[in-house]
Amino acid sequence: MNIYLDNAATTPQDPRVWSKMHQFHFNEHGYANSSSVHALGIKASSAIEKTRGIVASSVSASPEEVIFVSGGSEANNWVVKSLCLEAKKKKEPFFWISTATEHSSLFQLIDWVRSEGGNVALCPVDRAGRIELNKLDELFRIQKCHLLSFSHANSETGTLQDLSALTALAKERGILVHVDACQSFLKTEIRFQAWNIDYLVLSAHKIHGPKGIGALVKKNSAPLVPLILGGGQESGLRAGTLNTEGIVGFGEAVSLYQNADKEHLNRLRKTFCVKLAEVFSGAVIQGDLERSVPSIINFRMPHIGGKKLMQLLSRKGIFVSTGSACDSGQKTPSRTLTAMGLSAEEALSSLRVSFSRMNTESELDIFFESLLQAIQEEKSGV
Ligand SMILES: Cc1ncc(COP(=O)(O)O)c(C=O)c1O
Repeated sequence: MNIYLDNAATTPQDPRVWSKMHQFHFNEHGYANSSSVHALGIKASSAIEKTRGIVASSVSASPEEVIFVSGGSEANNWVVKSLCLEAKKKKEPFFWISTATEHSSLFQLIDWVRSEGGNVALCPVDRAGRIELNKLDELFRIQKCHLLSFSHANSETGTLQDLSALTALAKERGILVHVDACQSFLKTEIRFQAWNIDYLVLSAHKIHGPKGIGALVKKNSAPLVPLILGGGQESGLRAGTLNTEGIVGFGEAVSLYQNADKEHLNRLRKTFCVKLAEVFSGAVIQGDLERSVPSIINFRMPHIGGKKLMQLLSRKGIFVSTGSACDSGQKTPSRTLTAMGLSAEEALSSLRVSFSRMNTESELDIFFESLLQAIQEEKSGV
């Protein structure tokens, strides 16, 4: 028995996505290079443009604003490094504002930016992990800020930032806004154009799509330094033969995502919270359930190590995590949870459970039975 509750790390691919990719490649002869000008190349290129349209409309953007990339990490690196290098070229001191609660593909850029002579400020977050607008306003006054970067939904707690308010505040000062939406994409509304976002980062493998494909949605006026030079693909910004099959799978994953999926996730989360309170009265949920994506729950049970519990559950075929997969090798407490004001001990006793449309209510029953057993084992030192 396997119960997979680590969907914030990645989701299982939907079999319909897999078969669409397979069918496109083999049955429809979609394997040609999309830059080739013969009929099969044109077929591949049309399939790519179809997905571009699907992705654009899912976030209320225009197709020409969508650039295909390998995923969220690439896009996050690309935006920050681009703007830092542009500022350096203009001999301007680059100033980047982000938070301590970001995914490591943003957080680890802090040292890189500093090594390039840039300045970085981390805006404080409140107990729910939400950016404090008055603190951000103060940071904006320090020096000319080039870029504000933050994740729409936090990957450890699911907390949603007030995207439109943050963007409005930054725009009053002409600051570019970069939103990492890997965890919120399709789980809550995103209006790229209406909310005046400059850069939006999406990843297919978080929505039952293939790994290794995602999108950077970029406003036409927002600067971006070419990442790879060569064949001129993606408007000369990212050369290389496009991953047609991955892009087709990405489009299918977006098309398959329904409102019913969001409702299912909401029901799962509600059931989970009710059961958690019934079974463990001392359990504390981190974040703010009112304003978060329904796919992630982060909670702690006092005096029980989260990592140990995760390992005990894994032995029973139940897969959860203690935080972001990219930080899971770390022995230190989660910087997201400590930035939210949790003590190191509290942070180390936290678990992240993340759902997808493939999870069922009966899996939650098994999860809680197994969690009870795991706690007994932990207490008896098994
Ligand atoms: C918030 C966030 N940003 C970025 C990423 C990285 O995305 P990818 O795995 O597509 O590089 C992840 C994935 O873990 C994420 O949760």
